[in-house]
Amino acid sequence: MVGAGISTSAGIPDFRTPGSGLYDNLQKYNLPHPTDIFELDYFIENPKPFYALAKELYPGNFRPTPVHYFIRLLNEKNLLVRHYTQNIDSLERLAGLPEEKMVEAHGTFHTNHCLECGLEFSKEWMKEKIFSDTIPLCDACNGIVKPDIVFFGEGMPDKFYDMPAEDFKNCDLLIVMGTSLEVYPFASLVGHAEPNCLRVLINRTSIDKFGSPTNKRDINFIGDCDDAVWKMAEALGWSDELKALIKKEGSKFEKPKVRTSDNKHNDDKKPKTSREVPQSNQIEKKS
Ligand code: OAD
Repeated sequence: MVGAGISTSAGIPDFRTPGSGLYDNLQKYNLPHPTDIFELDYFIENPKPFYALAKELYPGNFRPTPVHYFIRLLNEKNLLVRHYTQNIDSLERLAGLPEEKMVEAHGTFHTNHCLECGLEFSKEWMKEKIFSDTIPLCDACNGIVKPDIVFFGEGMPDKFYDMPAEDFKNCDLLIVMGTSLEVYPFASLVGHAEPNCLRVLINRTSIDKFGSPTNKRDINFIGDCDDAVWKMAEALGWSDELKALIKKEGSKFEKPKVRTSDNKHNDDKKPKTSREVPQSNQIEKKS
């Protein structure tokens, strides 16, 4: 089970970290309340702030992190029962995790529907609207078209309700990473774990639900998700494999280099990790 914390090292802010979290950085949209940007009723009245934010955070501008590739390795080794994510950044898909292994609980940008007549629109159609600062309106009825990401006030995808019962029967280790577990019903999934299932929380901040002194099956790793997966990879003897996978997949994101006399001596200075790669599409931090 994961949340926004697995993507912060890619340059995408989480929601609730004071200062850097998205909800502390939406002043420019003049919202009555920060979470209104994902409230269905507010969106129907005023879709502009959501589409402006969607342009800044549009999937495709960011690369997967070591956590995403570690999850892919778990799957390739037939150890992953299912990946439950709240994220809408599509980095799991980009890292090569197959769609059938995921429950994208808060939806995705991959499909879009008219809120009035239900007509479906493609990802490419929506992307063109978002990047040309045009509010997407339905070709058939002129209603607002919205990406199928789940807003407050909307239902979750069927998979979210259908899959946990069976999945948790087969789960002997529940890894929870990079989430405050503040948003329901997603957070309630931790309660599906059977009594013999160990639950590991990997998060920068501790969470009340985990790690009470009487609780014998919960383990807390309070720290960085990337550090945690590198430690797990080492303990499992997978470090080299994870490094090789990140290197191989990372080359897909490199722009072809034009070698000039100026840059050929500067190769050592180029950014080496996703954390060091300059991101042009980040939400600005508060000064
Ligand atoms: P939150 O911002 O609520 O929580 C992210 C958690 O990740 C926080 O506890 C951070 O301390 C932690 N964190 C951040 N970076 C980390 C890192 N590199 N390593 C380890 N921990 C890190 O985000 P979510 O729990 O994902 O829903 O939020 C849940 C939902 O609330 C979102 O899906 C979104 C939002 O409203 C909707 O919009 C419907």
